[in-house]
Amino acid sequence: MPINDLSPTERKALLAERREEYKNFWPGAHGRRARYAIELFPLLHADKPQGHVLIPATHDMRLRKVAETFGKYFKRELGFDFMPFVAKRSALYPADPTVEVALFDAKKVQATFPIAAGAAGLSIVEGQRWLDWIWIHPFERGKGLASQAWDDLEAVYGSEFKVQPPLSRPMELFLTHRGIARERWSF
Ligand SMILES: CC(C)(COP(=O)(O)OP(=O)(O)OC[C@H]1O[C@@H](n2cnc3c(N)ncnc32)[C@H](O)[C@@H]1OP(=O)(O)O)[C@@H](O)C(=O)NCCC(=O)NCCS
Repeated sequence: MPINDLSPTERKALLAERREEYKNFWPGAHGRRARYAIELFPLLHADKPQGHVLIPATHDMRLRKVAETFGKYFKRELGFDFMPFVAKRSALYPADPTVEVALFDAKKVQATFPIAAGAAGLSIVEGQRWLDWIWIHPFERGKGLASQAWDDLEAVYGSEFKVQPPLSRPMELFLTHRGIARERWSF
């Protein structure tokens, strides 16, 4: 029965039931936010990359944590089972010392300080550099941010790195649009 057709007493009881379900559905004071909010991160302590978007993040724990959060968004959006990057270094993970991470300065919102709107992670496997993951905030997509990020990544890591599969459809379209050699991403 539609909620508006219930008697005041029935409606009150139904709302109480729903409140209880809601409370347990996303436990904790910020449970729903922690699970579903997607944020940008103002980086007051970092240098703004003038004329570029790449902010090196590998050697700064505060920036590594932002990259980890973007990695969490990447995992949730694309349905992966594990995080692509964890800020805390791990001796248990053999590739860890080769893992590099970078943040990208937003294009749509601009300030005198950088505002992180995306991230990418790269590693080296058997001498080959790989782009392991890349993620741009949804509100910053379609504005050429990944394109600029790609140029900056090639400036830093050279134009030989390959892109780790599986690729999302937007990423395939992005690489095709950019004319990136298929040997670098189609496996
Ligand atoms: C893929 C992704 C990085 C692209 O970022 P972006 O900043 O929106 O890309 P750009 O604006 O630089 O796009 C450049 C070109 O790529 C192509 N492209 C990018 N996203 C596209 C999409 N969703 N559909 C169709 N074409 C797309 C277009 O040709 C675009 O040029 P145009 O805007 O002039 O048409 C972004 O969509 C993203 O982070 N997606 C979620 C995570 C993901 O899929 N990562 C890759 C995992 S393998």
